[in-house]
Amino acid sequence: MTVTVADTRPGIPRHALKKIFDDFYRVEDALTRTTGGTGIGLSLVKKFMQAMGGSVTAANNTGPGCTITLRLPKF
Ligand SMILES: Nc1ncnc2c1ncn2[C@@H]1O[C@H](COP(=O)(O)OP(=O)(O)OP(=O)(O)O)[C@@H](O)[C@H]1O
Ligand SMILES: [Mg+2]
Repeated sequence: MTVTVADTRPGIPRHALKKIFDDFYRVEDALTRTTGGTGIGLSLVKKFMQAMGGSVTAANNTGPGCTITLRLPKF
C-alpha cells in the first residue's frame, strides 16, 4: 500500500531530502528560523514505518512543494 501526502509550501532543499528523517534535524537554523517544531516528527514517522516493514521518502514536486511517500508491504 502506498500513501502520498503533498503540499505546495517551499519544498525541501536537495541536500536535506534524506536528513529530514534524522532525529531533531531541522532545515532552518535554530537562531534564525521562522517556523516552529522540534525536528522529531519525520524521524518518528521513519521509525514507525520501518517497524512495520515499510519505508518513507521525501521528494520535491515539479511545481511548488514536496511529497512524502509512505510504503507498507502487503500482509
Ligand atoms: N512539508 C515540508 N516542507 C518543507 N520542509 C519540511 C516539510 N516537512 C518537514 N520539513 C523540514 O524537515 C524538518 C524536519 O521535519 P520534522 O517533521 O521531523 O520536524 P519539525 O516539523 O521541525 O518538528 P515536529 O517535531 O514538531 O514535527 C523540518 O524542520 C523542516 O525543516
Ligand atoms: Mg513536523
